[in-house]
This record gives sequence, structure tokens and C-alpha cells, in this order.
Amino acid sequence: PEYGCLSIVVLGASGDLAKKKTFPALFNLFRQGFLQPNEVHIFGYARSKLSDDDLRERIRGYLSLGKGGSSEHAEDLSKFLQLIKYVSGSYDSEDGFLLLNKEISEHEIAKNSQPGSSRRLFYLALPPSVYPSVCKMIRKYCMNQYDLTGWTRIVVEKPFGKDLNSAEELSAQLGELFDEQQLYRIDHYLGKELVQNLLVVRFANRFFMPLWNRDNIANVQIVFREDFGTEGRGGYFDEYGIIRDIIQNHLLQVLCLVAMEKPVSLKPEHIRDEKVKVLQSVLPIHNEEVVLGQYEGYKDDPTVSKDSNTPTFATVILRIHNERWEGVPFILKAGKALNSRKAEIRVQFKDVPGDIFRCKKQGRNEFVIRLQPSEAMYMKLTVKKPGLEMSTIQSELDLSYGLRYQDVVIPEAYERLILDTIRGDQQHFVRRDELKAAWEIFTPLLHDIDDGKLKPLSYKPGSRGPAEADELLSKAGYVQTHGY
Ligand code: BG6
Repeated sequence: PEYGCLSIVVLGASGDLAKKKTFPALFNLFRQGFLQPNEVHIFGYARSKLSDDDLRERIRGYLSLGKGGSSEHAEDLSKFLQLIKYVSGSYDSEDGFLLLNKEISEHEIAKNSQPGSSRRLFYLALPPSVYPSVCKMIRKYCMNQYDLTGWTRIVVEKPFGKDLNSAEELSAQLGELFDEQQLYRIDHYLGKELVQNLLVVRFANRFFMPLWNRDNIANVQIVFREDFGTEGRGGYFDEYGIIRDIIQNHLLQVLCLVAMEKPVSLKPEHIRDEKVKVLQSVLPIHNEEVVLGQYEGYKDDPTVSKDSNTPTFATVILRIHNERWEGVPFILKAGKALNSRKAEIRVQFKDVPGDIFRCKKQGRNEFVIRLQPSEAMYMKLTVKKPGLEMSTIQSELDLSYGLRYQDVVIPEAYERLILDTIRGDQQHFVRRDELKAAWEIFTPLLHDIDDGKLKPLSYKPGSRGPAEADELLSKAGYVQTHGY
């Protein structure tokens, strides 16, 4: 084969992320033929003393039935589980990583991998506090020995720090051990179908290019809602809050793709260069343009501190200081325990000048991109109400993926991102300077919240969040549109 064998090491193999996301994504890749048994081996690494079969049984339950019938699925599943081996060790012990290296090397020898062509992918499904020590161990004991077509790559998950300083410290620690080309910082929103579609829609269609600016667009909303609370993750969440959990990463990444200029080419570095420029153009946040909320009952969770000031809801307005966007509010909104589960981008256009139909009261043109659930893009527009009368209504040009692409199974974000890692494509991963710029935007606000200078308003679980957030939206110029 052109490439040597591939070893995928999942560190934190018995944790939640690994079981719910990493292994299911690997299994789907396996089912689609991207991980061939003659070249791939998967290693789980964690502290607990488990046998290979113990780990296999633990993850079996998470590998849900795909389409295509259960007997085929069962067969695939048992073949996939056979690729998995378990190695137990702590996250700072030499013995553990020496053993891991021995297992990987044996596998490489058994697969007749050419020296220097073997590929090693380390997926850290671990809390960031152990990243530095784990990376040190990998660097010292588990790197492949040669460097021809082979490689070693490290995948890490947020939270990358808690503010600018801690993030920079972490970046510096990892940067001493690995090159930027070896580090894959996952933001799984970048693996979502309709997030990846943004560049195409914006830059491959004549429709949008001339309209996509301050002359035509009144405001942009990027919204994330969940209809459940912190459920079992209260301890983690209370330390981070909704801004660090969702807004500073997922929603900000989406903002970059909505607001960036056309990149020179599709090369990952060209795209990431443009994203960084957007982030660097964001003006400091005004605290008057922030509404925070915390749902009633959040503090009943025993893992949450009784006097917690942590927001579970936030609306924050960002302003981009450049020629395209000056004066256009970008409204980022995220909340847990709300009335629905949805993530969408809503681009609202300005009123039609000299409107002879007087249709203002029906609302404005909007272009909505629904990331989930039920991926869709639709344009709200005014049309003649069908019938004898000459009156107008709001209607939609609708591209619902479920209807239009019935035969396509949309891949999970993690599936796509792991495949990108294997292929060495960093386009959908966060570069170090992007991360820094993202923290620069939110750190002053986060410090004010941490210091208790800003307090969350209480809201009822299952509601829209604090009413003050809707008032902030109207103040920013958002006009509620009414469908037909
Ligand atoms: C994670 C957050 O990054 O994203 C979770 O830590 C959140 O709090 C999750 O629930 C949402 O992801 P998705 O893909 O379901 O929108």
C-alpha cells in the first residue's frame, strides 16, 4: 500500500466522549470502508484495569444499528470490535506509554509496515488538565521512529483553556512538543454538513455575493438552543458556563464562516487566514449588549455550587469593524433548558426602500440556515397571496435536506473530522492564532462574570430564556417576521 499501517489510539477510552462520539465515528468510518482491517488497528488507553473484551463490551452498546439491516450490522460490529485492543496505564506514567508503544510497534511489524511509513493518530478524549503530561509522554515514548511518509498526529478537544492566558499557556506547552501541522483542535461544529456548506453557498453563488454586506443586511443571528439542562455534566459545566461551552467556540466559528472574505483558494491555510482576520476585527464587547440567564433548578444539581454565578444562557452582540460589516450586529445566542433544540443562522435583510406594497408589517427577507435538527436552508420572502386579491404574504423558498436528498445519510461531524485527520486536512480545525483571537474577544466579559460583576437572570426551564434577551434583539434592530 501507498501508506503504512494506521494506529488510532483513543486516550480516555472508557470516558463519555470516547463512547458516545469517538468510537461510533470510527465504526461508521469502518463500515464505509475507510478503515481497512489489513492496515488499521485501534487502541484504547485509560487508567482502569480492563481486558480487551471488557472495553469492547463497554462500547458495543453505543454502536447503534445503522441502516441496511441488522445481520450485516452485527457482522460489521464484531469485525470492528476485533480491531480494538486495550492498554491500561495512567496519564503520566512512563510504564503505561512504554507498553502502549510496544503494542503499537508490534502491530506495525505484524502488518509489515515499511519503517517510516506508519501513521499514528492519538485522540485525546480526556480533560485538558492532562493534555500537557499526556503529550509529553507521547512525544517521548510513542512517536514513530522514522519520518518518511509516516506521521504522528494529535487530536484535542475543547475546552482549550478558560481564558486568554490559560489558553496561551496550554498552546505554548503543546507547541513545544508538536508542530502546528501535527495538532488537530476539534470544534465539532466545523464538521456539520450545513456549516461546511457555508463557504460553498457564499462563494459559489452569484445571488449572495452582491448582497452580503452592510448595505443590505440588517443583522445576523447565530442561535443554539437545547431543550435539556446540564444533565450529569453539572460539575464540568459550572466551571465553564455557556459562553465557554458553546459561544466562544461553536458559534464564533460559524460567525467566521458567515462573515469572512473570500479566501485566496480552498487551501486550509488560506481559509484559516480569513477566519483569523474576522476575529481580529471584532470590537470589544459592551456589557450592555449582553444578557445572561440561568435556569431555575440549575443549582439543585449537587455537583453545581450553591451560589453559582454561571450562565446557562447568554445573548451577546458582536460588532465587526471592517468595510463589509460596520454597523451590522452579529447576535450570538445560546441556552440550555429552553423550549426547543435547534441551531440556526438567521440573516435578516433591511427593509425594501420605497415599499409600494406596504409589506413592512409582514417582515423582512431572511435567509435561514438550519444546522439542526432537519438540516435546511430557506429564504423568507414576500409573494403575492395566491388568489384574486392583490395582497402580499410572507412565504419561503425552501431547501430541506430530508426531502431533497432522501438517499443521502448525512455523516456525523466526528466521522468527517476524524477522516480529515487521517487525510491530513486541517481546514476544519482551529489554528492556534484563531484560538487566541477567539479568547481575546471573550476574556474581558468572562472575567466580569467570574468576578460577579454581571449576574445571570433567572428563567424557567422550557421557556425562551429571559425576556430581556428578546428586548436586546429588538434594540439591535431585529424585526420579528411572521410566516403565513
Ligand atoms: C458540546 C457542548 O461541545 O456541544 C455540549 O459541550 C453541547 O454542552 C454539545 O450539548 C452540542 O452539540 P450538538 O452537536 O448536539 O449541537
